[in-house]
Amino acid sequence: MSISNLRCKECSAEFELDASFYCTSCFGPLEVLYDHSDLKPDEARRRIQAGSRGIWRYSDFLPIDGRAGDPLEPGMTPIIRADRLAERLGTEAEIYIKNDAANPTHSFKDRVVAVAIAKAKELGFETVACASTGNLANAVAAHAAAAGLESYVFVPANLEEQKLLATDIYGTNLVGVNGNYDDVNRLCTQLADQKPWAFVNVNLRPYYAEGSKTLAFETVEQLGWELPDRVVSPIASGSLFTKIARGFEEWLEVGLVGGEFPVFNGAQAEGCSPVAIAFAEGAKVCRPQRPDTIAKSLAIGDPADGPYAVAQAKRTEGGIDAVSDDEIRAGIRLLAETTGIFTETAGGVTVGVLEKLARRGELSAGEKVVVYITGEGLKTLDANRDGFALAEVDPDPASFESKFGQEVAV
Ligand SMILES: Cc1ncc(COP(=O)(O)O)c(C=O)c1O
Ligand SMILES: [Zn+2]
Repeated sequence: MSISNLRCKECSAEFELDASFYCTSCFGPLEVLYDHSDLKPDEARRRIQAGSRGIWRYSDFLPIDGRAGDPLEPGMTPIIRADRLAERLGTEAEIYIKNDAANPTHSFKDRVVAVAIAKAKELGFETVACASTGNLANAVAAHAAAAGLESYVFVPANLEEQKLLATDIYGTNLVGVNGNYDDVNRLCTQLADQKPWAFVNVNLRPYYAEGSKTLAFETVEQLGWELPDRVVSPIASGSLFTKIARGFEEWLEVGLVGGEFPVFNGAQAEGCSPVAIAFAEGAKVCRPQRPDTIAKSLAIGDPADGPYAVAQAKRTEGGIDAVSDDEIRAGIRLLAETTGIFTETAGGVTVGVLEKLARRGELSAGEKVVVYITGEGLKTLDANRDGFALAEVDPDPASFESKFGQEVAV
């Protein structure tokens, strides 16, 4: 770890490394500033390879050394080559699925929360909190329990029941707010001013956001210390999308990897697509939207990092697309049938956009495309309930044969 300051993303003013998140001169967002001038790539690579099995192996590039023996250490989730998916999509690109549902609370949010909670402990906070669309709620409640901290988790009251139950179980103070995520976020920003609490994605946001860089680091390691040609990632606030990019950028800067910067494709649901719309209109800022989609985890109508996500897609000659609820359901099923991976609605959005890219002929033969699957299907089971009917039989072969019309071996 070699962090020096917090820095404003807009005017570059620098600030102390405490729980602050906006610039007091221009109100721009703050980010962590590193000093890697002494970092030797060979030594850094050795430290990484000798490090722990999860995200703390990247401590040189995180704002905290991490908790020794962290029982919920996320990271090093599987990356698999998905040839059957590529075949169904009719593309000759090499498709890789990075399955981040394989984290302790089954989403990529374990990465950002592990970093934020370690930082909260370092700064002396006894209570942590968050504004969540669901997955962050699960992660904050669990990591707070593991760290022995009190927690308050604020969510829209109409969240999927699976996500509510999978948060409450950790003994958190779960608060269902009558409103959408943007209302929840506004409430938490007000409370962050009044309470001595570490809101992981409000006053600790600069540290929290850094956790998503580990998805880029792992991708490079798992591809044999090479960059992919393209990534497809979901966008809600835009933090994940822009920080995956920052991870690749940092490793290029310090010489841990070489080659061309990947093309960035973002994925949103049509029912909440302020970033995709801004991209399509060539606008620099996002017009806030009232979300209405089955992809509740991505339902942020006023995305804090939206403008940076638009710029990121533009800079790499990528894009940001949106898919309908039916395309999301089809994406979930397609991924499950071709890879054995069951993703939540956010993953359906991502696969839906991958399908669009393939259909439009934007994927070239042999290019390495990494698709980030960020959450688990068991948390949004209702999304695929329609049309499901269990085929029941009596416990005898004749009944089975009459229903399924097959020869029964004797
Ligand atoms: C499963 C899943 N994927 C992706 C995201 C997008 O995250 P971000 O807000 O960093 O864009 C979220 C956000 O809650 C999420 O829950
Ligand atoms: Zn500023």
